[in-house]
Amino acid sequence: MTSGGGALLSVRGLRCGYGRGDVIQDIDLDVEAGETVCLIGPNGAGKSTLIKAVAGLVRARAGSVRFDGRDITAERTDQRVEAGMALVPEGRGLLTTLTVEENLMMGAYVRRKELDIPAEMERVTTLFPVLRERREQVASTLSGGEQQQLAIARALMSRPRLLILDEPSFGVAPLVVAAIFRTIRELGEAGTTILLVEQNARMALRVAQRGYVIESGRCVLGGATAELRESPIVRDVYLGAAA
Ligand SMILES: Nc1ncnc2c1ncn2[C@@H]1O[C@H](COP(=O)(O)OP(=O)(O)OP(=O)(O)O)[C@@H](O)[C@H]1O
Ligand SMILES: [Mg+2]
Repeated sequence: MTSGGGALLSVRGLRCGYGRGDVIQDIDLDVEAGETVCLIGPNGAGKSTLIKAVAGLVRARAGSVRFDGRDITAERTDQRVEAGMALVPEGRGLLTTLTVEENLMMGAYVRRKELDIPAEMERVTTLFPVLRERREQVASTLSGGEQQQLAIARALMSRPRLLILDEPSFGVAPLVVAAIFRTIRELGEAGTTILLVEQNARMALRVAQRGYVIESGRCVLGGATAELRESPIVRDVYLGAAA
């Protein structure tokens, strides 16, 4: 495990939730620059809530979130985006009445002054060629897999320093799931820092270098994915007997 001192993202003692209840109890989480880190755990464990707190969509009730050494616990979502975080939320968050190209433009909006937008457009549509073919198409008419690719591409348009993906395989056909994980792996190998939430533990543990198991708002296990794959809890509960 890392010390957290030099991590790109460093969460300490985080507590957060909705209404009167806490969902996340006391979580520490680190993502080093260049790493892909996954969060796995059952439905309702608090994985999405945790990354919403990282992105500033849910307020921290205790603890801290540091990004690149800076305490951002009190910062708004747009400030965190500007600092280089990009979240692809559960359900993708696309502007479904806009075209593929317009959605991609929105992704670059926050950093439009610094970016060469045509070059970014070229880069992301090379990564997802289907988006180039469908540039003019309205997002609502894309397939589930195409929408997920668009959501990831839109996040990449801002050249994020940390890409946060919430369930990228959800609602996507199996062949497309494989393609999406291949792209996540390629992005990681090209140096993008990624925090990945996934129900598909098998895939997540293959593409990430480290992972955390979240259950009932707490981290019950964490470490190198090679070790997690061998742990009895992960094998029995998350990978099934065939692992
Ligand atoms: N906006 C909300 N208001 C109130 N409770 C919420 C809200 N969003 C989530 N919760 C509750 O918080 C808990 C954790 O939900 P969360 O979405 O973080 O889990 P998750 O681990 O992402 O689950 P899944 O794998 O199903 O996506 C659940 O009990 C859920 O019902
Ligand atoms: Mg979730």
